[in-house]
Amino acid sequence: MTAFTGAGINAAPFSEGVTTMGTGRNDRNKQLLVRATPTGEVGPEHFEVREVEIPTPGAGEVLIETHYLTMDAALRLIMRNSSDFLFRLGPGDLVRNTVVGRVVTSNHAGFAPGDFVVAHTGVQTYAVAKGEELEKCDTSLAPASAWLGPVGVSGLTAYFATFAECRPQPCDTVVVNGAAGAVGSMAGQFAKLAGARVIGICGSDEKCRWLENELGFDRAINYRKGDLYTQLVDAAPNRINFVFDNVGGRVLDESLRWIAMHAKVLLCGSTSQYGAEAMAGPSQYIWLGTMRASLQGFVIFDYEQRYEEARQHMARWVKEGRLKLPEHVIDGDVGDFPAGFRDFYRGANYGKMLLRLPAAR
Ligand SMILES: NC(=O)c1ccc[n+]([C@@H]2O[C@H](COP(=O)([O-])OP(=O)(O)OC[C@H]3O[C@@H](n4cnc5c(N)ncnc54)[C@H](OP(=O)(O)O)[C@@H]3O)[C@@H](O)[C@H]2O)c1
Repeated sequence: MTAFTGAGINAAPFSEGVTTMGTGRNDRNKQLLVRATPTGEVGPEHFEVREVEIPTPGAGEVLIETHYLTMDAALRLIMRNSSDFLFRLGPGDLVRNTVVGRVVTSNHAGFAPGDFVVAHTGVQTYAVAKGEELEKCDTSLAPASAWLGPVGVSGLTAYFATFAECRPQPCDTVVVNGAAGAVGSMAGQFAKLAGARVIGICGSDEKCRWLENELGFDRAINYRKGDLYTQLVDAAPNRINFVFDNVGGRVLDESLRWIAMHAKVLLCGSTSQYGAEAMAGPSQYIWLGTMRASLQGFVIFDYEQRYEEARQHMARWVKEGRLKLPEHVIDGDVGDFPAGFRDFYRGANYGKMLLRLPAAR
């Protein structure tokens, strides 16, 4: 397992290079399917692997060899026994995933063998997709893997939620929860770049040290230890102007008790609730009224037209040594995804957690 920060976003192009490699003659496509709907913690018992033929691309389509799979908290949400959400996975369904892969064969003028692409093709070793549904990774800007994390949806979410929605000023205090995760580790760094005082909340002392020593957070608090509210009061003597909420639940509640006048609480994610049998809303919402504060939702796809702008800013900050791109890569095959996902929910990751498949090694 490797965890690293500060991938060489402006270093020489990623060494994976262009290739016209075909699929191995005896290769089959390994796919991960849902076997059972989980209650509580999700684990290997809820998934199964099957092998099928590698698909053949038709007109306008591309065959992709998957290199990196992403661990996304929202996968647990769509595995719930509920039709309340846009997507739902049940027994027999291919596990949804956004991947980075390499083009093997292309019947689309926009892609050539060897190109790295972001594709929404699920947990499988090979997939066919329409060219229009793919995004090409500019590996001179960031390594292919980073297109799933810091310069992909996680980093873009942190960027626009911070700079377009919250807009913290140097006099402000920002609390980021889920702070050592993919979105949180970037959000805290962005709030620091804006000049704010940044407090991170995460699930271990080691993660706290990482946030303070490696990523420049002013303070980090372990929500599993001690009285969270008391620690927040100590860390934020002038109260909290912005809560960047990734997890919801008790961690959010304790922060709401200490918000400042006209504070903004940005609801980015609710990781603590995705696997709960009965989801719970904030119990300390009363402080929103008293403090004339706002609770606002956020979805990154509203900013789709501005991704390039964010990536250019990130590239410059990395070059200047002011931003790190935290990635947590584990090696394995499609069948290792379930254990990786369980560990991710247990808090294994520092930054964006990815599973690197054999094809990428
Ligand atoms: N709004 C949008 O457009 C958008 C886009 C992308 C992601 N999101 C959301 O943003 C959130 C963060 O996403 P991410 O990709 O950065 O995930 P992540 O933070 O990397 O998620 C994993 C972390 O969640 C924490 N966690 C797990 N269970 C928890 C619990 N019960 N209470 C508190 N923390 C818990 C663990 O860290 P600890 O060790 O600290 O417990 C774990 O390491 C997710 O809710 C995701 O759905 C929203």
